[in-house]
Amino acid sequence: MEPTIHYGLAGVYFAETEICGINGDRGELFYRGYDIRDLTEATYTEVVYLLWHGELPTQRQLDDFRAELVPHYPIPDKVLELLLCLPPGTDPMHMLQAAAAMLAAFDDNPDEIDPDNLRRIGLSLVVQFPNLVATFERLRRGEQPLEPKSELGLAGNFLYMLNGEVPTPAAERVLNTALLLHAEHGSNASTFVARSSASTLTDAYSAIAAAVGSLKGPLHGGANEAVMRALESIGTIDKVEQYVLDTLAKPKGRVMGFGHRVYKVLDPRGAILRDVAAELAESSSEAEYFHMSLEMERVMEREMTARGRQVKPNLDFFSASVYRMLGIPVDLYTPIFAVARVSGWMAHLFEQYADNHLVRPLVKYQGERGRPFVPIAKRG
Ligand SMILES: CC(C)(COP(=O)(O)OP(=O)(O)OC[C@H]1O[C@@H](n2cnc3c(N)ncnc32)[C@H](O)[C@@H]1OP(=O)(O)O)[C@@H](O)C(=O)NCCC(=O)NCCS
Repeated sequence: MEPTIHYGLAGVYFAETEICGINGDRGELFYRGYDIRDLTEATYTEVVYLLWHGELPTQRQLDDFRAELVPHYPIPDKVLELLLCLPPGTDPMHMLQAAAAMLAAFDDNPDEIDPDNLRRIGLSLVVQFPNLVATFERLRRGEQPLEPKSELGLAGNFLYMLNGEVPTPAAERVLNTALLLHAEHGSNASTFVARSSASTLTDAYSAIAAAVGSLKGPLHGGANEAVMRALESIGTIDKVEQYVLDTLAKPKGRVMGFGHRVYKVLDPRGAILRDVAAELAESSSEAEYFHMSLEMERVMEREMTARGRQVKPNLDFFSASVYRMLGIPVDLYTPIFAVARVSGWMAHLFEQYADNHLVRPLVKYQGERGRPFVPIAKRG
């Protein structure tokens, strides 16, 4: 019988999960049964706890969890030396992938996949990722890396380590929201990569490094940077419409930040970030990017409806203007996605290792068969 090919594995289930549920037709997203809109009331740290433990923490549990994170804050000296060796212009996602793999070398027990050891590695990566991104940014600006202020929490400390100032409550709240919205999203490409890597029973660092590489692509986490580069190239709001029309006129033309494999209505995370961006835009000198985004959304809605397509803004679309208004350099947008998503990747590794099945799909061979071998001396 001819096999059915599911290109891009669209519509294929490969495991069960209790971490995250998505209803793409209704625009709903749940972490452990909680609606993402309700979870915006929580901190990112509470959400990490929820993803890993299945329950929102009590205040006591949260305090203990934050205390458990503290010893993991310092970046190992040799990893810091690696950052200093990298040539100027290194893509921060390449740095993060290399550092994620290198952290295994400074861990006495990287290979054990029992729940306690995995949780310890998760605690480390959840703080190492923001520290690495902030430290890398300061080093390339010619500034000294800063000691973390763990009492600020994950979002606040990241902004502090990046900018050298304790963030305003408003900035901290915005980044907190962005981090928790990016933390988890089912079997997206990078989480699938993390789980299928782990399915070989490789170590968690290797699986996470593989996931970072997958997130970098512009069809996945790299879309937020692509959105901002597009907005920068357009320049002014009056040129947005022509940009959209020119892009859609190209064969397979894609306007970055629109469309989703699962959502057929507005991604609920995109809607939340649009509101956050609107609030920031009221007092930001970079509000132009948000207004251009709204214009792009308007033109895309008209054009896609005319083509009978349901293509809405996704999470990456409004995160681009939010990060711009927070003063974050464009090439850190995707690393920030990784800073958040590492908690979701780890939640999935807990599940994958606990009930492992080697991931090994098939590709249908369409090449030639039975070709006669010709020794090299006789090949002309
Ligand atoms: C996310 C994405 C990869 C989903 O891909 P997918 O499920 O394979 O869907 P497709 O790319 O096949 O899109 C189906 C149709 O929707 C339309 N479409 C989807 N996304 C579009 C976009 N960003 N711009 C213009 N048209 C789009 C096209 O008409 C396409 O039909 P076509 O292939 O005949 O041109 C895709 O929407 C995309 O490339 N978006 C831009 C990158 C992005 O923002 N990625 C972040 C995702 S969170």
